[in-house]
Amino acid sequence: MKRLSDFLVRLGFPPLEGKLLIVALGLAGGHLLLVAFAAYQLKINVPTCLADDPKTLEPSVKQLDENTYQALYVAKMWQFEPSVLRIPTGASLEVFLTSSDVIHGFFVKGTNANLMAIPGTVGDTKITFDKPGTYPIICHEYCGSGHHNMVGSIEVIDGLEGFETEGLPSDVPDLAAAGGELAPEVAKGFEVATQFGCLACHSTNGTKLVGPSFAGIYHRDITTTSGESIKADEEYLKESILSPNEKIVEGFQPNMMPALPLNEEQVAYLLAYLKTLSSAQN
Ligand code: CUA
Repeated sequence: MKRLSDFLVRLGFPPLEGKLLIVALGLAGGHLLLVAFAAYQLKINVPTCLADDPKTLEPSVKQLDENTYQALYVAKMWQFEPSVLRIPTGASLEVFLTSSDVIHGFFVKGTNANLMAIPGTVGDTKITFDKPGTYPIICHEYCGSGHHNMVGSIEVIDGLEGFETEGLPSDVPDLAAAGGELAPEVAKGFEVATQFGCLACHSTNGTKLVGPSFAGIYHRDITTTSGESIKADEEYLKESILSPNEKIVEGFQPNMMPALPLNEEQVAYLLAYLKTLSSAQN
């Protein structure tokens, strides 16, 4: 320290300036060491580019060993895939996260996990769940009109064997379990509903979200904001899918839903799916 400041004086620095320079260099060096410590010891890294990463956009969950699970989450307007993940108490979860549209947030309440889902990149973190319970996953980056409904959850359950998921594309056939064989167009309709984020704003169990619930929507008698009474028949539903602002159901706000760029076929699939949702369904 003394030698270094003498050396700086000999170079022509005034003594005080030389000391300040040493402090400044020390701080800068300390910072670099902390960055290196974070990257190599704590393994906190900037997200990698998808192109550099062998993992694709396919959302999935797998069990790595007895107590470790790996989940590739895809965030999209306005849901997480998988939306629900159930794992046993004590499990460690490796999370990989990306987005298929805009920037989303990924905060797991009750843990330190807090990532951004950025299109084209993969972020990762690891969470260990020592206590059973439901840990909500919350999108904390404004991502459009369904942002406030963009939630998922991780359910940590005592004694669960393996894991369970909901909301993965591969979970779609499970829908059939509720009512026997699922017609192919209904399955496709469900795919359209998830792909375009319909279910973020329309529940299938009667719960009121941003838009009217899909439960029992087909042939439901509705009153519009202009006082008109109509039956939600095919024609009305089709119009509401393609031009959502035409007839708003009483109690709901206009301009919440974007006109969906669906082709004839996709609309037909969606209608086939909507017709299967009875009001008694949970
Ligand atoms: Cu996704 Cu806000």
